[in-house]
Amino acid sequence: MNDLPQQIDVLIIGAGAAGLMCAAVAGQRGRSVLVLDHANKVGKKILMSGGGRCNFTNMYTSPENFYSENPHFCKSALARYTQWDFIALVEKHGIPYHEKTLGQLFCDNKSKDIVDLLLAECRAAKAQIRTRCSIESVQPQDTGYLVETSLGTVRCKSLVIATGGLSIPTMGATGFGYDVARQFGLRIVPTRAALVPFTQHKRQLQRQQDLPGSALPVTASCGEGSFHEQMLFTHRGLSGPAVLQVSSHWREGEAVSFDLAPDRDLAEWLAQQRTEKPDAHLHTVLCGLWSKKLVHHFLTDKGIESRPLKQFSSPELAEIGAKLQTWELVPAGTEGYRTAEVTLGGVDTDAISSRTMECKTHPGLYFIGEVLDVTGWLGGYNFQWAWSSAHAAGEVV
Ligand code: FDA
Repeated sequence: MNDLPQQIDVLIIGAGAAGLMCAAVAGQRGRSVLVLDHANKVGKKILMSGGGRCNFTNMYTSPENFYSENPHFCKSALARYTQWDFIALVEKHGIPYHEKTLGQLFCDNKSKDIVDLLLAECRAAKAQIRTRCSIESVQPQDTGYLVETSLGTVRCKSLVIATGGLSIPTMGATGFGYDVARQFGLRIVPTRAALVPFTQHKRQLQRQQDLPGSALPVTASCGEGSFHEQMLFTHRGLSGPAVLQVSSHWREGEAVSFDLAPDRDLAEWLAQQRTEKPDAHLHTVLCGLWSKKLVHHFLTDKGIESRPLKQFSSPELAEIGAKLQTWELVPAGTEGYRTAEVTLGGVDTDAISSRTMECKTHPGLYFIGEVLDVTGWLGGYNFQWAWSSAHAAGEVV
């Protein structure tokens, strides 16, 4: 039995951030729209995002906040549907929000507010949405596409792939979008988990056994990436915004360097402390920077004995400062797609129009959102890419 309309203008596969946004924009232009998703409900990643409060955009979004083999690709869509456009939509729906830090905008209440916004926009656009629908095949027709699903067969003029990346398979993530791209001869830029915690080797974890839960501001650097944010020790390794951000630059076997006191030169600071408080113990002075646990760990780990500052010579203090300032680490690995917020890589943007998201070689076939080789930093940028790329396609499908 065919439970779906047999013919539709726009068929969107994936009822996540990008798919729902595209449905609303296309529907409001008068196109008949159907959105299909295999999950039991729509927008699951939105619901779990931002610790349940959805960091829905970033006030400082610019193309520099995105990784892609073609860093210019994202510019057009981001310029034509900006963070301010999405903020205006949030305000139109009366959703209370706040800036947490670094331009990151979060819902005051729940992420569900954003899903409700998208569903209200889809209703206004008369877009139909079906969940629990598996896609069996996609075939090109003379004009448009024929899609066979577990709920029946649909013909569409425009087919939009909005199935996201590989992160968090338990939330419904699949490689479907990449398979469709390959079917049509498109290249996939190799994918890897990003915005993901690091795991550490057993021996290192034993040395850090008192630290899980401890956090400190650091500058984490790897390759060309350098991020000044919090780092968190966990039972399996390292997490926190600085670590998640730098993970997008990390390749297996590479070292990551952490400046543990990014706001000061520790050698100079210790010399100054010695002048001001010559009788104070090194560990007491360091407790002005880090928690007791961290100070104890850093001193023990680097084999530094705590004494009153006046007992250290200037070269000794300079050496201690340098030792404590930097920590170099080769992570054992990452937590992988199981917990990664995003997937780096994806459908090669060379084959896609940056203005419309349409495939250059297959008219009527569109790719939007995370399935493309466009990946944002941590901080609301990935949702902004979903909104902007979806809007670009929604205006033309
Ligand atoms: P998205 O993944 O949202 O949607 C894809 C949809 O396609 C899903 O509904 C899925 O079920 C469906 N689908 C997949 N395969 C299918 C198939 N074979 N058949 C049918 N349907 C299929 N970003 C941000 O900017 N701010 C934040 O606060 C966070 N927080 C966050 C937390 C966590 C835990 C994660 C995992 C991710 C984030 N992100 C984030 C990233 C953000 O969630 C992500 O980049 C966007 O949801 C991508 O939107 P898309 O619509 O492209 O994919």
